[in-house]
Amino acid sequence: MKELIEAASDVFIKAFSRQPDFFFHAPGRINLIGEHTDYNQGFVLPCAIDRNTVLAVSPREDNTVCVTTADLHNTSSQWTVQNPIPKSERAPWSNYLRGVCEQFLSRQLPFKGMDIVALGNIPQGAGLSSSASFTVAFSVAVNHLNNFHLSSRQLALICQAAENQYVGCQCGIMDQLISAAGQAQKALLIDCADISYSAINLPQDAAIVVVDSKVTRGLVSSEYNTRRLQCEQAVESMGLQSLRQASIADLQRAKNKMHPLAYRRAKHVITENTRTLASAEALKNGDYQSLSRLMAESHQSMRDDFEITVPPIDFLVEKISAILGEHGGARMTGGGFGGCVVALTSQQKAPEIMQSIGNAYTDKTGLKAEFHLCVASDGAGMTQALPA
Ligand code: GLA
Repeated sequence: MKELIEAASDVFIKAFSRQPDFFFHAPGRINLIGEHTDYNQGFVLPCAIDRNTVLAVSPREDNTVCVTTADLHNTSSQWTVQNPIPKSERAPWSNYLRGVCEQFLSRQLPFKGMDIVALGNIPQGAGLSSSASFTVAFSVAVNHLNNFHLSSRQLALICQAAENQYVGCQCGIMDQLISAAGQAQKALLIDCADISYSAINLPQDAAIVVVDSKVTRGLVSSEYNTRRLQCEQAVESMGLQSLRQASIADLQRAKNKMHPLAYRRAKHVITENTRTLASAEALKNGDYQSLSRLMAESHQSMRDDFEITVPPIDFLVEKISAILGEHGGARMTGGGFGGCVVALTSQQKAPEIMQSIGNAYTDKTGLKAEFHLCVASDGAGMTQALPA
């Protein structure tokens, strides 16, 4: 984090010819299990990780938000905090923050402008929620600078609404909530029906290994929204409010009334909820054997029923699972169609994954996987300014 803050500070001084007054950060996340369950009112089990978006910020007297990004995009964008806020075609990344501004305004929470430099070390487009962390870091800055006293949960809801209504991705609450409310050394079991959560200790010796397949993915793609629609069709055929209320018996009874795809999508979600609750128990007991089985079943379900994995990811999961045996689990994490595999295992076992898979993966796919050893971390907040 220190390097990110120093870098953000340097860019800020160059861009705005003064020192930034504040630094805010928000982490990316991995999800241990519970995929595509959040928008179905189900359970998820994510951890915030020690990869962050950092914002260097100084308040302005007028209503202009002026943001410079110092990484991938390396561009600037500015707009006025006043409804309606037009979308930017030139700097589409800024739409995430424009959407957040609009959400504050729609809650009757107007605020003054800010100069901002944003940068981070969350791999982008890899399914580790770099965009959710961008919105959450910004919402924390707005909250702090204006003494709004909104909770992490309220900020996460603002950021989710910005993605749903402004950016156009019908995502659930998981990414924003874990980025806002994550806890060090813990996973959060989130009940997305009422957005309540409980923290669950990771085993003392746990290691989180994230393997970036380098298969790039686009979340604002039709596939994500299509899955959501198919889940809704299944709910409608069963005459229920959400898949959270559905049992496998309900699904079997209604099987002939629904499209075969809707059936398989719903089967994934219903069984995934059960696996997520069982995984939370296994985590509490440091039971790697059960986690190994549950994460493997989750991956199969995403591959065969929800159909969101891709062959390079399946290959990685197969190889990692073979190395881990009953000493930990591996599965694709996040929205799907590429991105990352997460493995939860002991610190003793983790290096084996990092050392023995890279070459086989490159031989098979021509891609170069990237390995990240991550630590479950606290959620977003204000970061101490640099010592003078
Ligand atoms: C993306 C979305 C989340 C969630 C996951 C799949 O990360 O932003 O809300 O639906 O996909 O579990």
